[in-house]
Amino acid sequence: MITTSVEDQKKTEMSCTVLPLLVTLSPALFFLLLRDVSVTQGLWEDYKYGRHSSELLHQEHNCSWTCMLFTLQWPGGFCQSLYKETQCKIPQNISSWTIHGLWPLHAQWCCSCWPFFHSDVQELKEELTEYWPSLLKTKSSFHFWKEEWTKHGSCAACVEGFNSPLRYFQICLKLRHQFDIYKLLEDAGITPSCERLYKVAELQKVLLPHVGDKHEVQCVQDQKDRQVLFQVKVRLSRNLTIGCDHHGDTNVDLAVGLGPGQGPPTGHPCPPDAPFYYFPINHQEPWRPCG
Ligand SMILES: *[C@@H]1O[C@H](CO)[C@@H](O)[C@H](O)[C@H]1NC(C)=O
Ligand SMILES: *[C@@H]1O[C@H](CO)[C@@H](O)[C@H](O)[C@H]1NC(C)=O
Ligand SMILES: *[C@@H]1O[C@H](CO)[C@@H](O)[C@H](O)[C@H]1NC(C)=O
Repeated sequence: MITTSVEDQKKTEMSCTVLPLLVTLSPALFFLLLRDVSVTQGLWEDYKYGRHSSELLHQEHNCSWTCMLFTLQWPGGFCQSLYKETQCKIPQNISSWTIHGLWPLHAQWCCSCWPFFHSDVQELKEELTEYWPSLLKTKSSFHFWKEEWTKHGSCAACVEGFNSPLRYFQICLKLRHQFDIYKLLEDAGITPSCERLYKVAELQKVLLPHVGDKHEVQCVQDQKDRQVLFQVKVRLSRNLTIGCDHHGDTNVDLAVGLGPGQGPPTGHPCPPDAPFYYFPINHQEPWRPCG
């Protein structure tokens, strides 16, 4: 099913010089061709290099990123990460950690001209809805995926294994299954609670064998100045091996991700000496997890 909006279509026309040619054919044929282009490797290459060719050549030579961050978020702490907590929503059936994103670090070339359509991830839609929902009232899940693709996925796309939205999102889902943070913590007796406080060292000890020693456990500070568990960032090599040494300075790299004004604030490493809460999810009033 193709659900491309007219607006998407317009954007596509503007950013990709090859498209006007296709549009002059017929709208139906235009869609067919567009579909073919996105599934056929050879054509897709032509399509890419048909536009902005000099920039794209740089992309080819500059696919120099080596490390990436896979970030999982705990919906029970997400609302506390917002300036306006009531902007969050947690869909009824979301009860575990969800994906925030997969971000190549220091990628040189990202392309907002690589369009993203519903049909690109149609076959993953159910899974993405479950594991990668938008937790913002103002943003649909599709919008969230689209934004992540444009900001991060397209930067990864110079590597063969990532070079389509479908492949990128498939890898993200695979990683989400690989890193089942809820279960890892639960098996160690670390469960959401309104009363219990946890220390970051406890979590790190449990997570380390599964996500490597370069992971980061992130907290946010809520309006009552409490530290609240929010995200886990896992560092990966481009071949998806856990850990990645390239730049040496782990902290600098871990700070990269989303800057201010680009979606929710990023949180900070949970302080080593201040215990934090792992709040349960409250679907009715997610910004007040404990009433
Ligand atoms: C990327 O390409 C630009 C432009 O050609 C070049 O100046 C730069 O050195 C390249 N960077 C890397 C890491 O290859
Ligand atoms: C949650 O609900 C959405 C939409 O109602 C549905 O698409 C999805 O499959 C559900 N997930 C689970 C785990 O039941
Ligand atoms: C993955 O990449 C890392 C870093 O480049 C390398 O050390 C490792 O051997 C690679 N692993 C596999 C399975 O290719």
